[in-house]
Amino acid sequence: MEQKKRPLKTLERVISKAGLGSRTDARGWIHAGKVEVNGHVVENPDHWIDMERDRVSFDGKPLERQERIYILLYKPTGYITTYKDPDNRPTVYDLLKDVDTFIVPVGRLDLDTSGLLILTNDTQFAERIMNPDFHVPKTYLVKASALLTEEQLQQLRKGVELADGPTRAAKVTRLRDSGKYTHLEITLTEGRNRQVRRMIEAIGARVMKLVRVRIGDIAIGDLPIGEWRLLTRQELTKLRQ
Ligand code: URA
Repeated sequence: MEQKKRPLKTLERVISKAGLGSRTDARGWIHAGKVEVNGHVVENPDHWIDMERDRVSFDGKPLERQERIYILLYKPTGYITTYKDPDNRPTVYDLLKDVDTFIVPVGRLDLDTSGLLILTNDTQFAERIMNPDFHVPKTYLVKASALLTEEQLQQLRKGVELADGPTRAAKVTRLRDSGKYTHLEITLTEGRNRQVRRMIEAIGARVMKLVRVRIGDIAIGDLPIGEWRLLTRQELTKLRQ
């Protein structure tokens, strides 16, 4: 019983959460003997650390708690949202070279999707924003490959059946029809993998262009594409509510 109440984390998690690198980096450093616990090298990444009692050091220096950082990036298409790509494609980290803390994306945007992406070293915050129970709305501009009827839009609003279950009710506004395409604004409160693309496919069309323009109340504003800025205190407070 006593054991359960202790704030325990694996050594790998402690190192990666300290903002030094990814979990894979952390495992590598631990295996390489760079990490000490209470003055002794520990090479097992799954070693339990008592956050209140154990002293962890990296390269001989005690781990310091990193300051929390919250970044808003306007991701262009052509960049993937993972740290390392086996195919060596550009990643969002290439756009964040001047950020010297290891941050993780809050959810993902596909290679072909542009728009707002939050990145942070506050993993609790990230988990909360990604958790569909918190209903943080995310708004997308969509160019669909066909002229969509009102019935099709109504299907999107009510929810469509996807392989991983029905989608929640969504806010869907027709912005304009141009030639053989329909431009929509869609707001979702869940963030499943390729959700907008799959929803549009479920009603018989394809996504030609997809941009995430808002997360909660945060909009792109005048942030240039490919650039980032820090979230303001007010924006953070609103997101947390
Ligand atoms: N929905 C998608 O289909 N792709 C994204 O990148 C984001 C939402």
